[in-house]
Amino acid sequence: MYIFDSHAHYDDCSFDEDREKLIEELKNNNVIGVLNCGSSLEGAVSSVDLSETYDFFYAAVGIHPEHADEVNDNTIYKIRELAKSPKVKAIGEIGLDYYWDQNPPKEVQKETFIKQMKLAKELNLPVVIHDRDAHKDTLDIMKMFPEVIGVVHCFSGSVEFARECLSLGYYIGFTGVVTFKNAKKILDVAKVVPDDKILVETDCPYMAPTPFRGERNRSDYIKHIIEKMAEIRNMSEEEIGNQVISNVRKLLKI
Ligand code: NI
Repeated sequence: MYIFDSHAHYDDCSFDEDREKLIEELKNNNVIGVLNCGSSLEGAVSSVDLSETYDFFYAAVGIHPEHADEVNDNTIYKIRELAKSPKVKAIGEIGLDYYWDQNPPKEVQKETFIKQMKLAKELNLPVVIHDRDAHKDTLDIMKMFPEVIGVVHCFSGSVEFARECLSLGYYIGFTGVVTFKNAKKILDVAKVVPDDKILVETDCPYMAPTPFRGERNRSDYIKHIIEKMAEIRNMSEEEIGNQVISNVRKLLKI
């Protein structure tokens, strides 16, 4: 089975000691694609670097809501410049995160999110959306840009919210959370999303699937997500594996 990880952070410092060796191992373990998503300007630069170093790496560039207060016109200018690299396939990760109290104020997050949605529209690139405890506001902003599509990564909403995202043309990103013992809501979502809208992702170094829960995550662990998705949807692992690869290629135009 081949694997394409639609959301990873190999620029994270938890990979500093063995990044090169690990990426080589991924290649040997049938990982044929990785979308490395920047969270900050520095992360975006590193994501582009990784995509230029490894042929199976691609980059998303954008500012995560937790850094929303660091964004000014110059930041947007720099993201636009980075997006000129042919390996940049999306703007992300961008969005809203109301979970952490120490995050920038909601209004600041929204403003930064809107600026980056505008950029995605201008550049005709899909978006990688981060939404935590902000479903309604996220959806409202997605609706302001009907020309833009993308993925709602590490999806955490209800079936109803998933349907709203799907109706706007978005894909739904599933992480290792589907393998967790206490998973319930996400399994309901995983049952109803159409085949051609499913993406799988690690969000590594976080969100490692069972049996690696709590450890550092890596793209080859996606096989445990695919196993679970196959079980839930009554499909073979081969079928779902092939389907998610064709989906991510379509979204990122690879
Ligand atoms: Ni992420």
